[in-house]
Amino acid sequence: MNINRRAFTKAGLGVASLAALGGTQALAGPEHMIRKAIPSSGEMVPIIGLGTNRYGVDTSDAARAPLKAALERFHMMGGTVIDTAPGYRTSESVLGDLIAELGIRDDLFVATKTDRSGGPEDTQAQLQESQAKLKTEKIELMQVHNLRGWKEALPVMREWQQEGRIRYIGITTSRARQYEDFEKVMKQEDLDFIQVNYSLEQREAADRLLPLAADRGMGVIINRAFGGGRIFNAVGNQPLPAWAEDFGCYSWAQFLLKYAVGHPAATLSIPGMTKLHHVDDNFGAAHGRLPDAKERRLQEKFFDSL
Ligand SMILES: NC(=O)c1ccc[n+]([C@@H]2O[C@H](COP(=O)([O-])OP(=O)(O)OC[C@H]3O[C@@H](n4cnc5c(N)ncnc54)[C@H](OP(=O)(O)O)[C@@H]3O)[C@@H](O)[C@H]2O)c1
Repeated sequence: MNINRRAFTKAGLGVASLAALGGTQALAGPEHMIRKAIPSSGEMVPIIGLGTNRYGVDTSDAARAPLKAALERFHMMGGTVIDTAPGYRTSESVLGDLIAELGIRDDLFVATKTDRSGGPEDTQAQLQESQAKLKTEKIELMQVHNLRGWKEALPVMREWQQEGRIRYIGITTSRARQYEDFEKVMKQEDLDFIQVNYSLEQREAADRLLPLAADRGMGVIINRAFGGGRIFNAVGNQPLPAWAEDFGCYSWAQFLLKYAVGHPAATLSIPGMTKLHHVDDNFGAAHGRLPDAKERRLQEKFFDSL
């Protein structure tokens, strides 16, 4: 994908959007957004992706139109990585339809999951269902959802990877009580990616999982950087500290996302977003620079003092 600056501004991004992105930084356009490398391949991906656990809607226009608008804006902003799962109700089919309608499949990096433990045939069947729903032969990233059935699923996923039908494989979690088991699987399996929850509010992943991922050369997708949205309620209208602008944060969402992806082991974050203005706001975190270790400690101290 190559959206140049003219196409970017022509895309109808008004003053409000540009302000949300951090003013002049946004004028640099998507080609200047921050990207990080996938350790197993060196492929560069934007540090902001799209979480779609709220895309499991019905077939009505009323339900789908706002999601289509958000997805279109995500693409326009230069976003590529989209995370879904068979467990998110109709999310895979909704995405398959919307991506086809927008004609943007070739620009995207689609990640989905397996969650069955009925053996190789069961996993095989689920992979085929995902291909059909997402309307795609090739899936960029296949992850075992919350480790469910990982022993049976990983060998099948590896076969598909060798055949070129899946590019990367990984495992996911979003619960600290699963970290011990998660760590064991990370130690014994060669994986391209892990996906884990990590936020200013829940930092436990940084104790062991994130350093281990760095040691093992695994990419890290951060989920729930907003605690599912709960953190916004907790911080309310509290102003950001003035120094947040030093590393390009002009909203709480940008402050939270830059903290999460600022961890050296993190590759990208996939905020859930169903609203256009949230896409605009969150892409602000993909511009400017990420906080360094000292600034991230300041962020923690500030957050803990609220
Ligand atoms: N175990 C797993 O594999 C696992 C578990 C959990 C999540 N995930 C993945 O991670 C993704 C992210 O997790 P999540 O969606 O639960 O939590 P999240 O990203 O922490 O929070 C999403 C919530 O934040 C709101 N939001 C987004 N941008 C905002 C902004 N700029 N300002 C204010 N509110 C904003 C969203 O609202 P709107 O929707 O209204 O835009 C939504 O209500 C999921 O969608 C899913 O793909 C994976």
